Amino acid sequence: MTKPISSLLSYRKYEALGFYWPPAPGRFLAPGPWHLFKLQSQFVRILDVGCGINKLPGSIGIDRNTATKADVLVDVDHIPYPFRDSSFDKLQAVHVIEHVSDVIRTMEEWHRLVRPGGEVFIVTPHYTDFSSFCDPTHKWHLNTFSLRYFGDDNAGFGYYSKARFEELSVHVKLLAFWRWLGFEWAVNSSKRFRRFWEYYLCYVMRGKVIEWRLRAVK
Ligand SMILES: C[S@@+](CC[C@H](N)C(=O)[O-])C[C@H]1O[C@@H](n2cnc3c(N)ncnc32)[C@H](O)[C@@H]1O
Repeated sequence: MTKPISSLLSYRKYEALGFYWPPAPGRFLAPGPWHLFKLQSQFVRILDVGCGINKLPGSIGIDRNTATKADVLVDVDHIPYPFRDSSFDKLQAVHVIEHVSDVIRTMEEWHRLVRPGGEVFIVTPHYTDFSSFCDPTHKWHLNTFSLRYFGDDNAGFGYYSKARFEELSVHVKLLAFWRWLGFEWAVNSSKRFRRFWEYYLCYVMRGKVIEWRLRAVK
């Protein structure tokens, strides 16, 4: 059966993010080394937290809303979730962290759920984006340094939590106009420039979405 184009696009998006299973329909037709990779990726255990109706293919989805594609109904404010320690290789939370009651406790729970070295992918609106304050269900309005407290560069506030993550990447998308002018590239080109943007420029060159890729250090 042919998949709708929107579904193909979301597959590509997830592949780009490092979530590979299952591959997009119709891809990888010719046999090659990627088949070995495909076999291996069958065993990657992924948790999609607050999956909504766009659950990542091949993952276990959790959500509290029965109208979603959740495999397990979980209120993510009720910690611990019903999974053992280190149950997952990867965890993603796309547009979810802004809804939780306690960011620190939630990050600790995500840290518990992934195996040592496992990856956590988090997406949330930048606080200067229209959607950040427009949606009355958003409890938090974050910037690109908001998760630094789980790493080494914590400005002396590493005592907020014992959970530790290595920051593999932080990427901020800007509004299309600024992206077209090349500012998105510039802001993401170095941590120093990103900090400068957060301090001085972001109320004019407004952000849209922040994406973190973190590795659990255990
Ligand atoms: C903005 S939607 C994002 C859905 C999906 N991740 C996506 O990218 O399309 C936020 C999701 O988080 C879920 N959610 C919000 N608060 C939750 C909670 N306390 N427990 C479980 N799910 C929650 C909502 O039901 C919703 O499906």
